[in-house]
Amino acid sequence: MLKAKHILEESIIELCNSGSLTGCIRMADLGCSSGPNTLLLVKQTIETVDLICKKLNREIPTLQVFMNDLPGNDFNAIFRSLPSFYEQLPLCKDKCYIAAMPGSFYGRPFPDRFLHFVHSSYSLHWRSQVPEGLRSESGSRMNKGNIYIAKTSPPSVRQNYLDSFRKDFTLFLSFCSAEMVTGGLLFLTIVATGDSDGHLNQGRIQHFKVGWPRLGSSNLNSTGLIEESKLESFDLPYYVPTMEEVRQVVGEEGSFELHRHETLGVAWDSGINASIN
Ligand SMILES: C[S@@+](CC[C@H](N)C(=O)[O-])C[C@H]1O[C@@H](n2cnc3c(N)ncnc32)[C@H](O)[C@@H]1O
Repeated sequence: MLKAKHILEESIIELCNSGSLTGCIRMADLGCSSGPNTLLLVKQTIETVDLICKKLNREIPTLQVFMNDLPGNDFNAIFRSLPSFYEQLPLCKDKCYIAAMPGSFYGRPFPDRFLHFVHSSYSLHWRSQVPEGLRSESGSRMNKGNIYIAKTSPPSVRQNYLDSFRKDFTLFLSFCSAEMVTGGLLFLTIVATGDSDGHLNQGRIQHFKVGWPRLGSSNLNSTGLIEESKLESFDLPYYVPTMEEVRQVVGEEGSFELHRHETLGVAWDSGINASIN
C-alpha cells in the first residue's frame, strides 16, 4: 500500500478535480481485513483530500468509509482501534465516519449508484469458490499432488483457474459499476504475475515457489502434519493473474476505462521482520 501511495494520491486528486463530489465522499475498502494496514487507506485518503482542499481553499468534504470483508473478519478489532486512530489523526475524528459492510465483494453489498470511490488491495486473487473442473466425471482429482497450479499440473487445471478468475472478476466489475456513481474511481491493487504459462516458474509472486507448492507436495504429508486424504481434498481458491488477463477482463466487461496501470515489485517476504518484531 505504501508503494502504491503516489498512484492513490494522484487518482484521488483526479477524482476531486472531476467535480463529481458532493459534500460527502462515500468510499469502500473491499477486503479490508483487520490488521495494521486496515486504516491506512482512510489515513492516506483523508490526508490527500485535505491537501487538495487547502490548495483550492475549499472546505474539506466528509468521508463516509465502508470497511468491507467476509463476515468472519474481525470487524470489532477495527472498531476497537478507532480511538487511537482518531487520536493520531484528529482530522479523521471530525471528518470520517467509519462503518462496516460485511459480505462478499462477489455479491452486492452496496445500493445502486452509491459509492464515489472503491478501493481494494491484495484481495482479488481470492476466488469466490474452488474452480470448477478440478475433478473428473468419476470424481478423481485432476491436479493430483498439488493444491494450486504447479509444474506437474495438467494444462486443463491452469485453464480452470483462469476461467474462474475471469468469471469472478467480470462479476466484480459489473457489481462495482452498478454500485458506483458515474465518474467514480475504482482503485485496485492486485497480486499479479508476469509469467503467463507457469505461475510457479518465474512469477514475481515468489511465495508460491518457496511456500505453498511444498504444502501441496508429498513433503508435508511425509512429515505427518496432515493426512494424505485431507491434502488430496484441498484446492486453493486462489489465482494470480497476469496483467494481460486483468486488462482483457476489464476490456471485455466494458463498464470501466483502464486509466492507468503500474507494476510494483514486492518481495514475497517483504515486511516479514516488521510483523515478527
Ligand atoms: C491479504 S488480505 C488484504 C488486506 C488489506 N486490504 C491489505 O491490502 O493489506 C485479503 C482480504 O480479502 C478478504 N476477502 C477474500 N475474499 C473476499 C470476498 N469475496 N469478499 C470480501 N472480502 C474478501 C479476506 O478475508 C482478507 O481479509
